[in-house]
Amino acid sequence: MGFATVMDWLLNDPQFGYYGSGCVRFGPEGDFVTAPTQGSAFAELLGRQLWPCFEALALEQPGSISLIEWGPGDGSLMAQLLHALELGQTAWGERLEVVLVESSPALRQQQQERLADLSLPIQWLSPEALQRQPRRGLVLAHELLDALPVQRFVLASKRWHELLVCVDAAGQPQWCQGEPLGADTLQQLQQLGLPADGGGRPDGWSSEWCPLLSSWLQQARASLSQGWLLAIDYALSAQRYYAPQRDGGTLLACRGQRTSSDLLADPGRQDITAHVCSTLLEHLAPQAGWHCCGTALQGEVLLQLGLAAEISALSEPGPQDLASRLARREELLRLVDPHLLGGFWWFWLEAQSQPAAPRPLTPPGWWPEAP
Ligand SMILES: C[S@@+](CC[C@H](N)C(=O)[O-])C[C@H]1O[C@@H](n2cnc3c(N)ncnc32)[C@H](O)[C@@H]1O
Repeated sequence: MGFATVMDWLLNDPQFGYYGSGCVRFGPEGDFVTAPTQGSAFAELLGRQLWPCFEALALEQPGSISLIEWGPGDGSLMAQLLHALELGQTAWGERLEVVLVESSPALRQQQQERLADLSLPIQWLSPEALQRQPRRGLVLAHELLDALPVQRFVLASKRWHELLVCVDAAGQPQWCQGEPLGADTLQQLQQLGLPADGGGRPDGWSSEWCPLLSSWLQQARASLSQGWLLAIDYALSAQRYYAPQRDGGTLLACRGQRTSSDLLADPGRQDITAHVCSTLLEHLAPQAGWHCCGTALQGEVLLQLGLAAEISALSEPGPQDLASRLARREELLRLVDPHLLGGFWWFWLEAQSQPAAPRPLTPPGWWPEAP
């Protein structure tokens, strides 16, 4: 089997998959920490980016506006965003509809429980249902793209071959070399800076790419009639992703706050992730109907959204006790530390309309203009 199929099973199989069966454990006591599972500061800052977008959409036209979260995990981010949002203080709160797109039945259940006390209309929809009735609003994908299955490939005698997962005589999974990659994949890799003959890399050099990214960008685009996509993830440009010294790619397994390169160990009991290739995303997005507005490092964005001011306010005595102030400061610092969550990338894309709209919307502007 190709690794993309195996990774899909390991993560998404509803009975045995890590996400599909719900055995994922989010947060500091679990397998890995994401920004929302370490506290609510991330959602509070993110809201400052999102709510002006909803305001712009609401001012332009009547009707509902939708916040669509794709891959919501345990539902923490949505719960924190909605708790931090004072709906009554907005002119558009009554028009807000929340949609969650979640492939795991078990996680859907967890999200329903977590969000049960919110008075807003919340729906769980499939990509197909959204496509039938596209929304005006914003798609948020936080640490989703790193979970999309990837294809592995390896160089042998100056040709790229697919890396497969086989089962040996003892019934144990093993890596084995498959057929040479097809012409379409070779062309895609060439555009990412990987020549068909390996460009001087040694035999056995391997990496991966995400063949599903294109169809996911199309699905996300088809879910919106107007609005934006904000994808947040760890990412590398193709130049760094496929640098000769990065042999083995970026795939990692994660369990109990420890990473490992043994992707086939403990099937369905550990997370498996690969970095997003930002060059591939920026290349595919326009083909899927997105305009790339900007890409920025999370740490820089959050500083602009007020994180620095909050840290400095925390050094003054205030209503919170010292222990709470120190804990909040620690949480904020982890969000901007480039070796922790600050090294994530924010990709901001706008749904292109056909024919092109006269750009009536004014998004808030942390991001630089696309070059
Ligand atoms: C790494 S978790 C991120 C969770 C959450 N966004 C967070 O940051 O805490 C990935 C999430 O995406 C979901 N997922 C993976 N592939 C998906 C797909 N194709 N469609 C919808 N959800 C998906 C998983 O079930 C899980 O909820």
